[in-house]
Amino acid sequence: MTLGSTVEAPATTDWWRSAVVYQLYIRSFADGDGDGVGDIAGVRARLPHLRDLGVDAVWINPWYPSPMADAGYDVSDYRAIEPAFGTSAEAAALIAEAHALGLRVLLDIVPNHTSDQHAWFQAALGGDAAARARYLFRPGRGDGPPNDWQSVFGGPAWTRVADGSWYLHLFDPGQPDLDWTNAEVVAEFESVLRFWFDQGVDGFRIDVAHGLVKAEGLPDVGTPLDAADEEMLEPAHRPDHPFWDRDGVHEIYRGWREVADSYPEGKVFVAEAWVGSNERLTRYLRADELHTAFNFPYLNAPWDASGLRAVIDESLSTYATIDAPATWVLSNHDVVRHVSRLGRPHAAGRHSLSTLPPIETFDRELGTRRARAAALLMFALPGSAYVYQGDELGLWEVEDLPEAVLQDPTWRRSGHTERGRDGCRVPLPWSGAAAPFGFSPAGAAEEPWLPQPADFAGVTVAAQETDAGSMLALYRAALALRHSQPALGGGELTWRPAEPGVLAFDRAPGFTCVVNLSDGPVALPHGARVLLSSVPLVDGRLPVDAAVWLER
Ligand code: BGC
Repeated sequence: MTLGSTVEAPATTDWWRSAVVYQLYIRSFADGDGDGVGDIAGVRARLPHLRDLGVDAVWINPWYPSPMADAGYDVSDYRAIEPAFGTSAEAAALIAEAHALGLRVLLDIVPNHTSDQHAWFQAALGGDAAARARYLFRPGRGDGPPNDWQSVFGGPAWTRVADGSWYLHLFDPGQPDLDWTNAEVVAEFESVLRFWFDQGVDGFRIDVAHGLVKAEGLPDVGTPLDAADEEMLEPAHRPDHPFWDRDGVHEIYRGWREVADSYPEGKVFVAEAWVGSNERLTRYLRADELHTAFNFPYLNAPWDASGLRAVIDESLSTYATIDAPATWVLSNHDVVRHVSRLGRPHAAGRHSLSTLPPIETFDRELGTRRARAAALLMFALPGSAYVYQGDELGLWEVEDLPEAVLQDPTWRRSGHTERGRDGCRVPLPWSGAAAPFGFSPAGAAEEPWLPQPADFAGVTVAAQETDAGSMLALYRAALALRHSQPALGGGELTWRPAEPGVLAFDRAPGFTCVVNLSDGPVALPHGARVLLSSVPLVDGRLPVDAAVWLER
């Protein structure tokens, strides 16, 4: 694939310090060919939505050939495009078109494991010793697996093959872990990075960035696992865990940074690293390693002023020690959508469905109201921010998907006790009064790969575009202001004295954000002009569960 026509994105090298990045979950964004699965053609047709929204970049979840044991996070060829999503030529066109609209393009690289259908793993199963050495095959302990490691999706992290040995898969059996002490693995991924950088891609989100290196000898984790270990992708809150956040990962990323920096425009990385503390996270962000990392403590923060302020302060002060920008994120394709978390009592830190209070306690109106306030808070904070597709429409978790349609391996691997992550992956509603809500073209042969609820009729892009009070209108206004206000984006914040339950901070020059998480309305600073508020003010006061941006 050559990209003679690639339009390079604008040439500022530190754009990532303040960018708003839109997470595009390709299989659920827009379906161009009517097979019920989102694809590149659909994305290309809908790029104007992203331009109008005002984001600076897109991160596209894995779009490589995959048997889809884990929705594309099981990659069988890192240099090609999954046929259900399109072709390499279409990918090239998409990158060029996004750049022409001023949008950077980040891809998702999956270095911890390949698919079991990857040529390397197939050769390993066929007995090729060099290929086998790229994975973690081990003899069992008696009749059992080599150690006590559990898969993140449930069950043992080991599967036995025909010759009696076992291979490690921290995730699904269709995702064998690579051995990163193998020089061929290191060289292959640097080559894959170059392959896509050469196509004009601006950077990568790194999947399971904290998992690549395993302790020598693969020692037992030890039992019992505490509750945090059992939570999906939660870091082990203990030092020297045998597979999470081992110091050896940093050498890998120093190599990757050299590759990125060999491009004059500078290519960037964002790490998905679920680690025990902000301090551990900053190790990934040293000047010769990765540029940014997702701020999961923020995603997990409770909806209360002191809890949020503590996470914000801790994030800003820790990142500042290494001159890395903070990032802020509310939702992604692995967690319950934040409308559904915020619309429940005491939802703090609970990002998987099974640990949330029951559906009967969910109040969508409350969740939506708080999500509006949360968006204004997030976009006012210093650093860069992530929007998961559908956040801008106020989508909620679809919690009543019929069991027969569930596809997340978590459902299967947990013995049908954990429904998994499909509820935040339901195809987007674009227009119309009934499914597929414009997700697929009229007369499409297939229904969307997950059924959309009838209530999506009220939150389609088309419906929200003509409603000045919609979530979409709020996101567009906020992102437009973020571009026009010199105070927003990178920089610092100064807290203002505020009543209990209220977050209020200034950004220079002349900008103030107030968020009311208290029990009653609050007065606003005198003489300030309202730029944007998440709900209308009442008698000049900011109501409960609301946020306002002010110009002083
Ligand atoms: C991705 C998940 C995926 C897992 C295994 C994660 O962190 O975000 O969606 O299941 O890695 O690749």
